[in-house]
Amino acid sequence: MQSHTSAPGKIILCGEHAVVYGRPAIALPLSKIRARASVAPGAAGIGIRFDAPNLGRRWLLAAAPGDPLSELTLATLKQLGITRIPDIQITITSDIPIASGMGSGAAIATALVRALATAFGRNLSTAEISALVYTSEQRYHGTPSGIDNTVIAYEQAIWFQRHSESPHLIEPLPIAAPFTLVIGDTGVRSATRLPVGEVRRRWQEDPARYEALFDLVADVVHQARHALARGDVATLGALLDRNQEALEQIGVSSPELERLITAARRAGAAGAKLSGGGWGGVMIALVDPETVVSVREALLAAGAARVLETTVSASA
Ligand code: MEV
Repeated sequence: MQSHTSAPGKIILCGEHAVVYGRPAIALPLSKIRARASVAPGAAGIGIRFDAPNLGRRWLLAAAPGDPLSELTLATLKQLGITRIPDIQITITSDIPIASGMGSGAAIATALVRALATAFGRNLSTAEISALVYTSEQRYHGTPSGIDNTVIAYEQAIWFQRHSESPHLIEPLPIAAPFTLVIGDTGVRSATRLPVGEVRRRWQEDPARYEALFDLVADVVHQARHALARGDVATLGALLDRNQEALEQIGVSSPELERLITAARRAGAAGAKLSGGGWGGVMIALVDPETVVSVREALLAAGAARVLETTVSASA
């Protein structure tokens, strides 16, 4: 019994927030930045010991049964049909900055579920892994749409639409031509549940206004799907800008995000927007080989805490 598994980070290309209200969204895995989990035999009689050095945490399941990762571990063991608490050591590490909009929590949870299944020689389907992670996210993040756990578990570009009765619509996304995104991290940590909760409050106060904004986002996301299917990067850029305008009106942008978005556009990006929950975390800029270096430099000069890059390959 020994296992090492991992799961990628993610970004939302377009459609965040509106996706919580049943509109479609497009998400991409970030395969180069990952969370990792390993399971190894532990000391007899200790039960489950967790060590998460990046998170600065170490704990025993028996001492913190209500911890989100303890609860997810118990739910996973139950699903695997393991009724006695085993003596195991679980180690969790992650390259994905927390509360940055890049899916750190869902990636850690996915790596953990996979590591447990592998260590006990059981097979969980991708849908089962995704469902376990969703339940865990739901417990701590209020009303997640399910897009984060889905793109991370499937590790491919997806079109996602939440249905009030599951199953949700999950489709691999046809992409005719590769494209590159530069990701700028504001360095401002923002837990997704906070802007998600605030949008819900505003939507309850003024449903007509918010439903109209979500419809506008849905229209952008449909057009982005067509642009990707045609390999039309210029149109995609303009759509990211339109999505950003709607996100500003929804109330989830921030001065730090807008400073980076403006810098990227001035440096020649085809389009730019915040990605994920907003109020902090990351923004994305669509670039081509001529603008990638200037956009990177402009983001750093505008105060980005870190800049990453991802190239999305063409799919069938
Ligand atoms: C977070 O990555 C995306 C949001 O739409 C929340 C969700 O879909 O659960 C902001």
